[in-house]
Amino acid sequence: MNTTQISSLEEYQKLYKESVDSPEKFWKKEAQQFIWFEDFKDVCQWNFNEPNVKWFLEGKTNITYNCLDRHVLERGDQTAILWEPNDESQSVRSFTYDELLDEVCKCANGLKSLGVVKGDRVILYMPMVPELAIAVLACARIGAVHSVVFAGFSAQALADRVDDASAKLIICSDYNNRGAKTIPVKQVVDDAMDLGCNSVESVLVHKNSSNEVNWSDDTDRWWHDVVNDQSPFCPAEEMDSEDMLFILYTSGSTGKPKGVVHTCGGYMVYTCFSFRNVFQYKEGDVYWCTADIGWITGHSYIVYGPLLAGATTMMFEGVPTYPDAGRFWKICEKHKVNQFYTAPTAIRALMAKGDDFPEQYDLSKIKVLGSVGEPINEEAWRWYDEKIGKGKAPIVDTWWQTETGGIMITPLPGITDTKPTFASYPLPGIQPVLVNAEGEILEENDVEGLLCIKHPWPSVLRTTYGDHQRWKDVYFSMFNGMYFTGDGARRDSEGRIRVIGRVDDVINVSGHRMGTAEVENAINEHPAVIESAVVGFPHPIKGQGIYAYVILQGTGDDNIRKEILDVVTKEIGPIAKPDLIQFVDGLPKTRSGKIMRRILRKIACGDVDKLGDVSTLLNPDVVSNIKLDALKL
Ligand code: PRX
Repeated sequence: MNTTQISSLEEYQKLYKESVDSPEKFWKKEAQQFIWFEDFKDVCQWNFNEPNVKWFLEGKTNITYNCLDRHVLERGDQTAILWEPNDESQSVRSFTYDELLDEVCKCANGLKSLGVVKGDRVILYMPMVPELAIAVLACARIGAVHSVVFAGFSAQALADRVDDASAKLIICSDYNNRGAKTIPVKQVVDDAMDLGCNSVESVLVHKNSSNEVNWSDDTDRWWHDVVNDQSPFCPAEEMDSEDMLFILYTSGSTGKPKGVVHTCGGYMVYTCFSFRNVFQYKEGDVYWCTADIGWITGHSYIVYGPLLAGATTMMFEGVPTYPDAGRFWKICEKHKVNQFYTAPTAIRALMAKGDDFPEQYDLSKIKVLGSVGEPINEEAWRWYDEKIGKGKAPIVDTWWQTETGGIMITPLPGITDTKPTFASYPLPGIQPVLVNAEGEILEENDVEGLLCIKHPWPSVLRTTYGDHQRWKDVYFSMFNGMYFTGDGARRDSEGRIRVIGRVDDVINVSGHRMGTAEVENAINEHPAVIESAVVGFPHPIKGQGIYAYVILQGTGDDNIRKEILDVVTKEIGPIAKPDLIQFVDGLPKTRSGKIMRRILRKIACGDVDKLGDVSTLLNPDVVSNIKLDALKL
């Protein structure tokens, strides 16, 4: 019992056609592979103009029942989660499906004992330890809505998310072991509690080190006190298909991050279907995705997709370069990894360390290599193919987004062809189109346009938490009757799609999404900053780097630069720190006062001779100074 696994090109083509000709029939068949406590009455109701999307209407299920309970009879003794610690001298931990179900139920009962009920929001701020996956599933078990916040975000960013979600509970660890560093996670939560978090009733702390933490008897509870003695039985809450499963905050082009909402039924069907097909997972394989569960890739392809499919999924606590740049490859050898899924930024960083590292290890078990999060450049693609896959493991360059819930455009390994830098073909059920600025669909091949999706798929986001209008405005208002991705793409002469990158004010730094407005707001918190403008520029390892133009009160120097970096770290986290800060006297503006980012982007990219006509600007003179100073950076 499982979703369809495509095994040939003919089957892909046939299924794709069926999925477009009669989407409801196609998805009904896939959805029927799951356990529903009550059958769904209708497959899909939708209207992208209103907009409105619902899948598997009135169906009742629980995603954890499908991830765990249903596997226990068939593969209770099979490893579900295999965990590799940061510190190699520590033991590997593993959980069979049987054991994982017990742990999830214990945690779920622990959450209940803290007063968490269906519909409550729970924030998870934890490193990559098994308890993070257990806590995610425990929330889903009782119908609480989890919102995982990447543990690299600052106290302010955490407090913003807790407040937006009005979370009742925060689950965190005491410390995070990352490479040679030990990061005080609980301290960040304490700081966030001082900044807001008024809705929080308790903080559940998982002990992950022998270090001491500050303790508040009013709110703080140890995981081992609350969870360890609970019963390993906890009924799976009956959830409607369209009940919220989780919120995941991601950056947009304007204002504060938005809470992307995914629901139970559609997300379940799509993550399982896409996992099985994209990675061609076979019984007995060991699958490893190196993402952090704080991002959508970790949600869909470390936790839910693999567990729904009954796979063995690996989690790694550490970083790719600790104790050295061979760590990923060493882990692949040690655990005989069959499918390996990572981000181009990691590939580029490891490629820069030389071929000696991968050459020391036996990578012969790898059958499929995956890439996600940003465009992969040809050089990195070829290195990945030759040095890691030895030319024998197809690369699946998977394009998708937090909002899409699952992989949308990708080669299927061994089934469709691969071409460096091309995400290639849509999965069955996905109908991508390229449109021009007027929203007209470009039917021909060999074109470039804006990437939209014209038919809903089961795991499309249902709303942005607390701001339904934003959902409508951002995704469905740009072009009539279509979901707009925010990406630009090219289609080659044979119909393969290559996603070029964002066309809005979002930049992609090491595969992490950053809103330029968000970074500007943080920079502007520095008392000496009058105004700032942030753009992306090509970066050899990160894909894009952050370039900040800053107008100061007084003159700028390296001290102020450092202070600005500190402010950004405090407001958002180290991942948002600009790579370059240029102090300027003014910013190029249109006559209506809008910053001309196009010009700033070109200067940041070094294209100073291609600025075009600047004479219509409100302040054309500032441009020549910015150009001159940029060359000195
Ligand atoms: O610009 C695209 C880029 O990452 C964006 C989505 O980021 P996020 O929501 O953080 O999700 C990342 C993990 C799914 C997209 O709008 N992107 C993602 N994958 C690719 C990509 N760009 C090119 N090729 C990809 N394979």
